[in-house]
Amino acid sequence: MAAFSLPQNSKIQQGRHFPATGATRVRTFKVYRWNPDDGRNPSVDTYEVDLDRCGPMVLDALIKIKNEIDPTLTFRRSCREGICGSCAMNIDGTNTLACTKAIDDCGKGKGEVPVYPLPHMPVVKDLVPDLTHFYAQYASIRPWLRTQSAPPPDRERLQSKEDRAKLDGLYECILCACCSTACPSYWWNGDRYLGPAILLQAYRWIIDSRDEDTGARLDDLEDPFKLYRCHTIMNCTRTCPKGLNPAKAIGQIKQLMLARHG
Ligand code: SF4
Ligand code: SF4
Ligand code: FES
Repeated sequence: MAAFSLPQNSKIQQGRHFPATGATRVRTFKVYRWNPDDGRNPSVDTYEVDLDRCGPMVLDALIKIKNEIDPTLTFRRSCREGICGSCAMNIDGTNTLACTKAIDDCGKGKGEVPVYPLPHMPVVKDLVPDLTHFYAQYASIRPWLRTQSAPPPDRERLQSKEDRAKLDGLYECILCACCSTACPSYWWNGDRYLGPAILLQAYRWIIDSRDEDTGARLDDLEDPFKLYRCHTIMNCTRTCPKGLNPAKAIGQIKQLMLARHG
């Protein structure tokens, strides 16, 4: 499996060029390509897309390329509305969702549109990163309601409107990994540092009024690497396509840790 490091890799060789024919409004996409089965080095292929016959989002262009120009192009997508997180990639230098990134917002509406996989992740093929480790880290925080008390016999566990509101800005996370793969601390220490996405999710359960395992959750994060590799660089918050603030969630976990130690 090839490890993909930087979005703009100068060693990448130029690949094939697929010019548009007879189109009047053309946009050029430079797309990272790597196939583990063909033995070739990574390359960048150039595709010209007729915007008059394409939807407005970068994912529309990728689907058009795959359907009409080059069926070998490989990427993930499902919902096409910013909910599943599977189309996360590096577009025009920023980690974001291809389905909600407008083509017109790339390069101020002009020029080439570079499309790469999420940075610093192993690549499965083309624009598909290997998220195995990311998901294992998510599983490690045991992201479900943990309780010791018996549930009410006749209804679900309730929570006040005020307590429910504490989950706003957290529950919306779609685990797209845009933030973690934009974080320099995660690039260098991703084997042990949990990264912003997983820490935001950890905080989501720590402050859930119905959860009864808060102490154990904080104990699990008392570690020089899991939590404290965050140096408040803020790349995570800047890049989140859902407008969330993982850096703030991390700061709030650190404050809870401080409060514990008096
Ligand atoms: S915090 Fe934002 S960028 Fe990070 S995984 Fe969740 S939705 Fe994606
Ligand atoms: S604030 Fe923390 S988690 Fe976010 S990019 Fe910076 S170091 Fe990474
Ligand atoms: S396809 Fe689901 S978030 Fe883009």
